Amino acid sequence: MNKIGSLRVTTLAENLVQISGLQGQWGLSFLLELVDARGRSRKVIFDTGNDRAPLMHNIGRLNVDLSDVDCVVLSHGHGDHTVATVEIVKAAGGVKVYAHPHVFQPRFYEDRLGRRTRGGVPEGEGIAEIEGAGGEVVLTAEPREIVPGLWTTGQIQRVTAFERVSPPSSGGKRIIVVDGEEVEDRILDDQALWTEVEGVGPFVITGCAHAGPVNTLLQAERLGGFNKVDGFIGGTHLVGRSDAYLEQTLRALRGFGLKLLLSPCHCTGFKATTRLWRAFPEAFVLNFCGRVIEVGKEPEPRVV
Ligand SMILES: [Fe+2]
Ligand SMILES: [Fe+2]
Repeated sequence: MNKIGSLRVTTLAENLVQISGLQGQWGLSFLLELVDARGRSRKVIFDTGNDRAPLMHNIGRLNVDLSDVDCVVLSHGHGDHTVATVEIVKAAGGVKVYAHPHVFQPRFYEDRLGRRTRGGVPEGEGIAEIEGAGGEVVLTAEPREIVPGLWTTGQIQRVTAFERVSPPSSGGKRIIVVDGEEVEDRILDDQALWTEVEGVGPFVITGCAHAGPVNTLLQAERLGGFNKVDGFIGGTHLVGRSDAYLEQTLRALRGFGLKLLLSPCHCTGFKATTRLWRAFPEAFVLNFCGRVIEVGKEPEPRVV
């Protein structure tokens, strides 16, 4: 495995705000700045948020230059991760957008009475519009090395006995159209990023982790040949989970070590976030809009 030289992750869009002047949202977007395995500086955008205006506002306030972004990766096809793909691709001068083949498929939510609402990637953020902005959409369910040393997980194997996609909070069902057929949407497109940072160790960055945070870390270990994961940043979709579910997750997460850094955010929810803090008091780092995590350096402060 090629190790990357350094990694710096800036939270561009997130639910929590702690820095005056920045704006929060139910959504996620990260900027990864790294020195890749060949020694070249790279910029990757992972997910593009839920509300375009606060995301672009934060990008401006944080003085992020999008013109030299190398590529965009979409963790999955939900609207809170994909609203500003076209704008970012345009600002980057036309770049590749990596996504699972299901990301741009039609999605619906059907309530108990059979009434449907549109789900998935927002209108105007589809493949044609991304290509119209000069981008190139790369659809694959396989792991991909997007820049030397930084990989996607590809579609994540669901191997744990307890992790399952949470049902819609208001009942009903999620539907996706695959190969022209409507099927139950198990959010198979959910994927994450993983890498090994020279002198530090393996790191994983998730979007929503609908496949389960434990399944996600197991997949990174399998692909990278790791026997531990030192850092984990991103959504966990532990929001609304039962105490028993949280306990099972915490127990399984301890098995990865997570010695250096655990920074859950977005769809983790307050309850699970506090449980994770208590379970990993040394590694926990609160995430919020504008948080900068330089892997291998002590984040200041870890918790506000
Ligand atoms: Fe999601
Ligand atoms: Fe999400």
